[in-house]
Amino acid sequence: MAFELPPLPYDFSALEPHIDAQTMEIHHDRHHGTYVNNLNGAIQKHPELEGKSVEDLLSDLSSVPDDIRTVVRNNGGGHYNHSIFWQIMSPDGGGEPSGGVAEAISEAFGDFASFKDALSKAAIGQFGSGWGWLYLSGGRLSIKGFPNQDNPIMDGGVPIMGVDVWEHAYYLKYQNKRPDYVAAWWNTVNWSAVNDRYSQYR
Ligand SMILES: [Fe+2]
Repeated sequence: MAFELPPLPYDFSALEPHIDAQTMEIHHDRHHGTYVNNLNGAIQKHPELEGKSVEDLLSDLSSVPDDIRTVVRNNGGGHYNHSIFWQIMSPDGGGEPSGGVAEAISEAFGDFASFKDALSKAAIGQFGSGWGWLYLSGGRLSIKGFPNQDNPIMDGGVPIMGVDVWEHAYYLKYQNKRPDYVAAWWNTVNWSAVNDRYSQYR
C-alpha cells in the first residue's frame, strides 16, 4: 500500500495571521505531496519494502538499500515530519501546555519560558533548512536542531513536537525573518496533541 498525503486537519487559512493560507496550501499540497510521491517512487524500486511503515524505514535507515537510502531519508523524513507538524498545530493553539508534558518540560528545562527559549534558539540557529525538535531520548526530553528532513527517530529518539524552519514554511510572509516566524508559530501549537504524543510514547 502506497504512502498517502494525509489531509490537513483544518483549512489553509485556519492558522492566520500566524501562518498565511498561501504558505499552508503550497507547503501541504506541493511540498508534503512531493515528499510522498518521491517516497513511493523509491519504494516501487524495492517491493520487498512495501508494507513497512515510515517509522520502520527511518528508524533503521542502514537496512534500506543503498540506491534509495538518501531518497528515503529525505522524502520519508519529509513525509514523517510534516505529518507530525500538521497535527501539533491548531487554530485554537498557543498558550502553555498542561498535563504530563507540562510536568516533564518543567522537570527537564526548569520552566516553560526556558523551554520555549531553548526550542526557539535550536530552530532559529539551525543553519540552512531543517527543524527544531523536542524529543524523547533514553526516557528524557531533549531539544536539538536537525538539518534537512532529519528527525530524532533516525537516532533512536521519539519526536514529540517540532517546528519546520525550511524557508518554504515562512518565506512568503516573513521573508528572511525566521525569528519572527518562530515567535508567531508558538501561537499555533496544539498542546493537547503534543500532550497526547508525549503520553503515548513516554
Ligand atoms: Fe516543510
